[in-house]
Amino acid sequence: MGKTITIQPVTRIEGHAKVEIDLDDAGNVADTRVHVVELRGFERFCIGRPVEELPRITTRICGVCPWSHHLASAKTTDAVFGVTIPEAGMKLRRLCNSIAFMEEHILHFYFLAAPDFIMGPDADYSVRNVFGILQKMPDVGRKVVRVRALAAHMLEIISGKAIHPSAAVPGGFSKPLMEDEKQKLLPMAEECLDLAKFSIKYARDEIFPKYIDTVKTLGVIKTGFLGTVTDDGTMDLYEGKLRLMSADGNYDDFPLENYTDFISEHIEPWTYLKFPYDKRQGAFSMDLDNPVGIYRTNTLARINVADKIATPLAQEEFQVFRSEFGRPAQATLLYHWARLIELLYNAEHAIELLNDPEITSLDTRVKVEPRAARGIGHTEAPRGTLIHDYETDENGMVTNCNLIVGTTHNNAPINMSVKQAATSLIKNGQYDQGILNMVEMAIRAYDPCLSCATHNLDGSIAVKLTIRDSDGNVVDVLKN
Ligand code: MG
Ligand code: NI
Repeated sequence: MGKTITIQPVTRIEGHAKVEIDLDDAGNVADTRVHVVELRGFERFCIGRPVEELPRITTRICGVCPWSHHLASAKTTDAVFGVTIPEAGMKLRRLCNSIAFMEEHILHFYFLAAPDFIMGPDADYSVRNVFGILQKMPDVGRKVVRVRALAAHMLEIISGKAIHPSAAVPGGFSKPLMEDEKQKLLPMAEECLDLAKFSIKYARDEIFPKYIDTVKTLGVIKTGFLGTVTDDGTMDLYEGKLRLMSADGNYDDFPLENYTDFISEHIEPWTYLKFPYDKRQGAFSMDLDNPVGIYRTNTLARINVADKIATPLAQEEFQVFRSEFGRPAQATLLYHWARLIELLYNAEHAIELLNDPEITSLDTRVKVEPRAARGIGHTEAPRGTLIHDYETDENGMVTNCNLIVGTTHNNAPINMSVKQAATSLIKNGQYDQGILNMVEMAIRAYDPCLSCATHNLDGSIAVKLTIRDSDGNVVDVLKN
């Protein structure tokens, strides 16, 4: 009777996962599962806290994506308190968002993804990592480490803290930007732009042509896409309406406040990750041949749903990408290419914001008063559309909290891409380390942050504690 191949841990992703691949008697793939072996549970324990604390508490969901939660949460508290924040406060938040995006995209491309392409998918694992890159391309490696540190330093200058920030507050931004700080930031942003320009050119001219057959086949599935655009369809990573595209390229635009009319969260008993899906299409199914309601977020999704990009260099790259791969582009490894277009956009956008005279205005926040209300806020996070949804009582205490995290939207697609990759690569029981790494590559393309994404405590999967005596007999089972 068949066997199960286990990949554990899945490497070069944020958070912890294992993949199980069940083979049938003939050694072909019968089924696959991506297990996420952790639980964060913030949806539950934010309840009962004063809502103004949530922009600080929710940063603790993840040390990798604190800025995304910080900003989405601050926007949600603005909505709860019913205030419109000053332009300068909004621009400082945008600036931090763009810098955080750059830090994350550089990290993912060079440290997590590039070893598969630069060393090769079946290179020995001892060199298929960032140290292999540093050895093979020492100048690029040094530059990458330097620019990531620069991005963190920029966030410190603007907000006081690069990780677990507290500067975005209900009603705006607590710390105006000083002119001398701005003068320090500008050359740093230029250095980020240089690396962004180099990265997309290098990937476009050297990496993707070499691997184009893999790009066109590995982990490819057909899904819809979700992202944020302005009223005229321009990509926006901080604010705008949601655009939900189906696999055939048709789309609907809707205000964030209506998200529950479009998106529902399916629950499976074997994972703490929920499965958001487009509920208008019918009952959730991630069957490879007949998926229902499946859509993707993150870089490829944003490039697919956007009509254009607001900055000139990124817009040029956007046009190259679209003419080459069409709309919507479905190949999963194109997430990497789209990520580098976004890296370029964020570098350009950061410089634009720093050159905006209003960025140093002292008018960065308004006062807020507690009230009973529901507020919904979102931002595009490096890893996908991030929605926070809070309700408060008249004292401003949180009575309900729902988070839909970027990676959560991609839960079903990641499972499907793994199944597609395993099924097409493993035949007659034949596989090796290179093939299993290619299954992992199908996950890595999505840049999942699993630590961010595990909040299902709705009861269908209980936190279960089995107590056994010294002979292994079950004495008691405790469940939530
Ligand atoms: Mg949720
Ligand atoms: Ni995260």
